[in-house]
Amino acid sequence: MPANLISKKVMKKLAAEAAGVDNAKGDARVKEVTERLLYRIMQVIDECDVSMDEFWSAVGFIGKTANNGELGLMIPGVGIEHFLDLRLDEAEKRAGISGGTIRTIEGPLYVAGAPLSKGEARMDDGADPGEVMFISGQVRGEDGNPIAGAIVDIWHANSKGGYSFIDGEQAPYNLRRRIETDAKGCYVARTIVPNGYGCPPESATRQLMTLLGRHAERPAHVHYFISAPGYRQLTTQFNFTGDKYLHTDFAFGTRDELIVTLERVTDAQEIRSAGLNRPFARARFDIVLTKERANAPETIVQREHVIAA
Ligand SMILES: [Fe+2]
Repeated sequence: MPANLISKKVMKKLAAEAAGVDNAKGDARVKEVTERLLYRIMQVIDECDVSMDEFWSAVGFIGKTANNGELGLMIPGVGIEHFLDLRLDEAEKRAGISGGTIRTIEGPLYVAGAPLSKGEARMDDGADPGEVMFISGQVRGEDGNPIAGAIVDIWHANSKGGYSFIDGEQAPYNLRRRIETDAKGCYVARTIVPNGYGCPPESATRQLMTLLGRHAERPAHVHYFISAPGYRQLTTQFNFTGDKYLHTDFAFGTRDELIVTLERVTDAQEIRSAGLNRPFARARFDIVLTKERANAPETIVQREHVIAA
């Protein structure tokens, strides 16, 4: 069929009617968004001459994605989770908020309720043969003053790129910890250098990435939520210099300000004083939080999270 068969007027009228715009009942916000969404879907179908076969195949594909529990993976893959971050960055800028550590995507693999400790924590259970890594950092305000009592909630993959709870192979909450910063605003985590990971081979997300000519891999990274009373909660992560996928993360999570260079420690005395018998890695990740203020855009995202049993 040719493209552009239907007038904008006809599409607008149908979208408005389907969204219930002509009645006074229902939810005004849902109607507003539904009307625009339907109109744009109709436009794309008409402009691209989407066939009925293509349309129903897309509906089936979205259904498969949802049934697989992959929507949380697909959304960052098509750039929308990063887009939401860009919007929040811009809204903060317009509200006069700046100077804090930059945010990046949460991703779909957070598990709430990780063990909480003060000042420091060991995150791994000793079963992972990967390289030992100490992450240390300080949480500060925009004024440079340390924030004692901030909660640094960290989660990351193991040396095979798998997450506890999700991969079914690791102990509950392995590589997931919450650390309360000490009097100097500092935290230290002993853990294992994570590996990157890709979308599962049979996943709908990988299937779409292949159709788009893209890979479906993430560089290694460490996720963070950081919160403290009176400050704006931050969702972020850091990556590692030299990672093969550092600048092509399929989930658009890498931000230049969040790349950390691992220091390799080989000095025998340092190894001994760290309680180890082999070289290890050190990462530094300081965090600056901005003060909460009235009428600022919300940074705490209401999103469904699992809790490990
Ligand atoms: Fe992740």
